[in-house]
Amino acid sequence: MITVIANLKGGSGKSTVAFNLSVWLEKHGRRVVGYDLDPQCTLSDLGMLRKDIGNKPYLTIHSVRAVLQEQLKSHDDAEVIVDVGAANMAAMKEAMSAADRILIPVPPSQADVWATQRFLHIIGPDLNVVKMNGSQQIMAFVNRADTNKAIRETHETESALKMLPGIDIVLPHRLKMRTNFRRSLSEGLTVFEMWPRSKAAEEFHTLATALYPDVVGK
Ligand SMILES: Nc1ncnc2c1ncn2[C@@H]1O[C@H](COP(=O)(O)OP(=O)(O)OP(=O)(O)O)[C@@H](O)[C@H]1O
Ligand SMILES: [Mg+2]
Repeated sequence: MITVIANLKGGSGKSTVAFNLSVWLEKHGRRVVGYDLDPQCTLSDLGMLRKDIGNKPYLTIHSVRAVLQEQLKSHDDAEVIVDVGAANMAAMKEAMSAADRILIPVPPSQADVWATQRFLHIIGPDLNVVKMNGSQQIMAFVNRADTNKAIRETHETESALKMLPGIDIVLPHRLKMRTNFRRSLSEGLTVFEMWPRSKAAEEFHTLATALYPDVVGK
């Protein structure tokens, strides 16, 4: 399955989710082929850092500026995870056209909801990505959610996402704002490797299981 993790706005957590998801899948016995189409190369840097440190499983990540749909579709026996950035719209379009699903992490703010709305417009009416393929599932979830329940933005963002035309599923499995994500990343590690019993690890496992329900227990 080809999962493209995308959003127009920077810093929404695309690379963090792509990285944690890739390692999670490998640890559950799935072969992963990663594509880093972002000139910032965060995902490939993380993959290299893991190798430097000797932290297995190592990740297979293709760091490329251009990719063809056929190439992405050629990994029948692997889960394909694609990290894209708005800085490379041509590659983003190609990857999203090949995708089985597009996963959009959205931080809890009105500006992020607007950016997501614009993104949906770009992949729909503007670029025709969705129309050309027609079978991609468009999924969104709130990343960096407030840990304080009294703060309304997380709930409001989730409700706003549910109203946006173009999103098929708003996953209820939020990742909260946890410094563990940032800290583990700087060590080339996932949250569940560094702090297996942390809330961040638990939340991530719940999200990953919702995305790949047939992986756990195999
Ligand atoms: N749930 C979270 N809690 C706390 N920090 C997070 C969370 N998700 C991501 N971050 C941190 O936010 C920063 C931005 O995340 P990341 O680089 O994954 O975003 P991105 O969407 O890939 O950004 P860019 O568009 O620049 O590629 C990183 O420092 C990351 O560790
Ligand atoms: Mg990134």
